[in-house]
Order: sequence, then C-alpha cells, then structure tokens
Amino acid sequence: MIYTITLNPALDKTVSIPDFSIDTVNRIQTLRTDAGGKGINVSKVIHSLGAVSTAAGILGGSTGQAILEALKKLGIETFFHFIPGETRTNLKVIDPSRHTNTDINEPGPPVQPDDLAGLLSALLAGVSAGDIAVISGSLPAGAPADTYFTWTRALRERGVRVILDADGEPLSRAVQASPHLMKPNIHELSALTGRPLRTAAQAREAAVPLMEAYRIPKAVISMGGEGALYLLEGRALYARAVPVPVHSTVGAGDSMAAALAVAEEAGMALADTIRLSMAAGAASVMESGSQAAAYDTIKRLIPLVRFEEMH
Ligand SMILES: Nc1ncnc2c1ncn2[C@@H]1O[C@H](COP(=O)(O)OP(=O)(O)OP(=O)(O)O)[C@@H](O)[C@H]1O
Ligand SMILES: [Mg+2]
Repeated sequence: MIYTITLNPALDKTVSIPDFSIDTVNRIQTLRTDAGGKGINVSKVIHSLGAVSTAAGILGGSTGQAILEALKKLGIETFFHFIPGETRTNLKVIDPSRHTNTDINEPGPPVQPDDLAGLLSALLAGVSAGDIAVISGSLPAGAPADTYFTWTRALRERGVRVILDADGEPLSRAVQASPHLMKPNIHELSALTGRPLRTAAQAREAAVPLMEAYRIPKAVISMGGEGALYLLEGRALYARAVPVPVHSTVGAGDSMAAALAVAEEAGMALADTIRLSMAAGAASVMESGSQAAAYDTIKRLIPLVRFEEMH
C-alpha cells in the first residue's frame, strides 16, 4: 500500500475574477473547490495513474469533513485523525484578463502533540513492511520541527519506504532519519546543503555526500523547467524537462513524487521510473491550477522523455 501523509491539508477554493483589483468589490465568475494539501495532491495523481493509495493526515471541522467526502468521491482511501478547529481554506484568485494568480492561505488550526502521536501510532499499527509512505508539505502550527524526523524513523523501523518531499527545517531534520528517497527541488536542496546550486552537476556534488552521510539510498532533485537529476542505484542521470505548454507549475513536484511512489511500488526499472516521473511532472504543468495530471497526457509524454548518464 502507498500512504500519503498530509498533516496540514486545505480545501482549495479556486475562483476566477476578471480584472481582479484591491480596494473595490470583485465579483466571482466561476468557483470550484478541491481537496488540497501536498500529500492529498499526491494521492490524486496516484489515483490518475491507476494505482491505489490511502490518504492519511489531520482534519478538522466541516471543512475537514468536506475534504474527506471529496476524497471518498474520488475513490481514494482515507485515514484521517479529526482534531478540534477547522481545516483551512486556501483561496486562489485567478484573473483570466490580467493573467494573474493570487493565493490567500489560511494558517490552519494548531495541532497538539497527542494528535500527532495518536495518528502516527494508528498508522504504524496498520502498515506492513514494504509499504510506501509519501511525507510531503508543510507542518501545521504546533507541530515540532522534528515531526517528519520522528515519522520517518518510526515508519522506517517498520520496513516502510519513506519518500520525503519537505522543505526547510522539517526537511533538514528528516533527512537524518534516512528516508528511502528524497525529492527536494534544487532550491530546497540548496537551503538544505547551504550551497548556492544552479546546475545538475552542482546539485549532484551537494546531494551525494549528504546521501552517504545519512544513508539515503535514492534522491531525485527536481529543477522545474530545467528537468531533474536522478541519483538512484549509485548512478547519476540527468533528464531534460519535456517541452510542453506551461499553464501552472504548482504541483509539478507533487505529480513527480506520486509517480516515484507508483514506480517504487511496482519495482520499475530505472529508465521507466525516470520516464514516468518526468512525464507526470510535465503533464502537471499543462493543467491549470493544482488539478491532477491526466493519465492519457502522461502516457502521451512518456516517449518524449530524454535522459542521459552523467559522468
Ligand atoms: N516548465 C516545465 N516544463 C516541463 N516540465 C516541467 C516544468 N516545470 C516542472 N516540470 C517537471 O516537473 C518536475 C517537478 O517540478 P519542480 O522542480 O518545479 O517541482 P517543485 O518545485 O517541487 O514543485 P511543487 O512543490 O510546486 O509541486 C520537474 O523535474 C519537471 O520534470
Ligand atoms: Mg515541491
């Protein structure tokens, strides 16, 4: 089973307002709501890839209930712990005339140590060796910075392969718990290693010693429109981004993480792993907003993926 973990989910409310302006009344033209948060988005892409995952995490209030129902409607298994308070709603204002995209994000309710510990122990009771857990996104208010470290270590002790897609201090702590695979983007890797990084070669130089020091077997460093670096099975491969029309780059990394989880579960060969995850990232940028990439698009892009061994 693949589990995705979202400790700080959100109901994404996307509205379109032509000529959106401040200091005046704006009228919404269209409105849609989606279950959101990085782990949940990973679950959606896993679902579009025809694989199964369980979305786990923390929810609260009627917004939390709405997210739970939205996931069930999509056919995604859920494993959520409810806390007092209301899960956040994140507002995205899309202006089709000025081509702008404005995010207004709520902080979300604070969690208590007992909520985190309760969810983790329930999850540990359900997992089996060989399962995969994708830990991604920001930590909710109240969660200590070492939360992903604790979760990664506990899951790893059960034989679960952790795919880590975090940022900042939660990432720098969690890498010390030896995740199976980390997927920072190049900016996150740069902050993690304290070095300015621009190229795949520089990223490789920075990432390999870290992987050796903390015994992290696999890393994928995503570089947006510049492609990605794959450090797998002791090899270094660079994949160029698939040239596609770009609509929204938000969530490309989540799409990639979803494909990496599916490839890991299927035991895919290195080349197929690269093809599927690069195609998933590219398909995601073709969608507007944070909508999950469609499998048809992903399949169409797979033959266009180009990669080479780095020396
Ligand atoms: N402009 C683009 N054109 C083609 N492919 C892209 C583009 N941007 C991203 N991708 C694909 O998606 C992958 C992940 O993108 P990126 O490095 O932006 O992830 P990220 O910063 O983690 O994104 P997020 O956290 O918002 O999901 C890239 O390695 C690439 O394969
Ligand atoms: Mg990311």
